[in-house]
Amino acid sequence: MISGVMENILHTRGVTKAFGGVKALHNVSIDVLSGKITALIGPNGSGKSTLFEIISGLQKQDQGKLYFREKEFSKLSPYRRANQGIARTFQQVRLFKNLELADHIEFAVDNGDTGFFKNLFTRTRLSEDKLRAALDKVGLDKRADTQAHNLSYGQRKLLDLAVALAKPHDLLMLDEPVAGVTPKLRTEIKRILLEEKKAGKSILLIEHDMDFVMGIADIVYVLGQGEVIAKGTPNQVKKNKAVLEAYLGE
Ligand SMILES: Nc1ncnc2c1ncn2[C@@H]1O[C@H](COP(=O)(O)OP(=O)(O)OP(=O)(O)O)[C@@H](O)[C@H]1O
Ligand SMILES: [Mg+2]
Repeated sequence: MISGVMENILHTRGVTKAFGGVKALHNVSIDVLSGKITALIGPNGSGKSTLFEIISGLQKQDQGKLYFREKEFSKLSPYRRANQGIARTFQQVRLFKNLELADHIEFAVDNGDTGFFKNLFTRTRLSEDKLRAALDKVGLDKRADTQAHNLSYGQRKLLDLAVALAKPHDLLMLDEPVAGVTPKLRTEIKRILLEEKKAGKSILLIEHDMDFVMGIADIVYVLGQGEVIAKGTPNQVKKNKAVLEAYLGE
């Protein structure tokens, strides 16, 4: 980092995306600061998850560019984006019901589209220590041998988070990490994310839980109908008139 200048780990410029007649995103430019927690909020359908899909390469933007550490990556495959150091979770937790927790971690670490199935049969096993450490981050280390279908909703969210954390990453993208979890688990997830930040990782998160966002984010972007309608610190955004209107008009 140049002294006094905030460095972006990721930024988007002019990202636009339509699904048929639905304008999901219009000219979206955001800066994700290195080592900080950036939140993306906005009413249902405002385009938050679509922006995640575009950043991870699962949807292609109609217009606009994406940069990771100042280098454009708009045309890289999802696999190569992940290998650059972008790990993510999905709004709908994606787990393999009949696989043990430890397997989820193992497959995550040697990722890639073909990696999963390759690993299923050629099992380059991670050391027990590494597996436990990954699950220990979210308090699931004692459940390493449990099959994923036996987990509660909250535990699935935790496993999903552990899988993202286990991948080598500098940027962690989380789509609603505390949706539907108990206050106790929300506090625990907050602690885990602050640990990540302390370790120098950058985080971009989507979340509807305002208390959570306001208590953890350094910078907040607000999307309304696919456009950035506000950006600022949690306190600045809370007082913003356009933001209040976007939520009241929901
Ligand atoms: N694959 C898709 N095909 C068609 N329309 C889509 C697709 N993905 C998203 N959309 C539409 O784009 C708009 C933005 O959706 P998106 O999922 O990005 O919103 P969101 O801000 O994540 O909402 P929520 O808070 O409810 O998760 C919505 O109108 C949605 O219906
Ligand atoms: Mg969403």
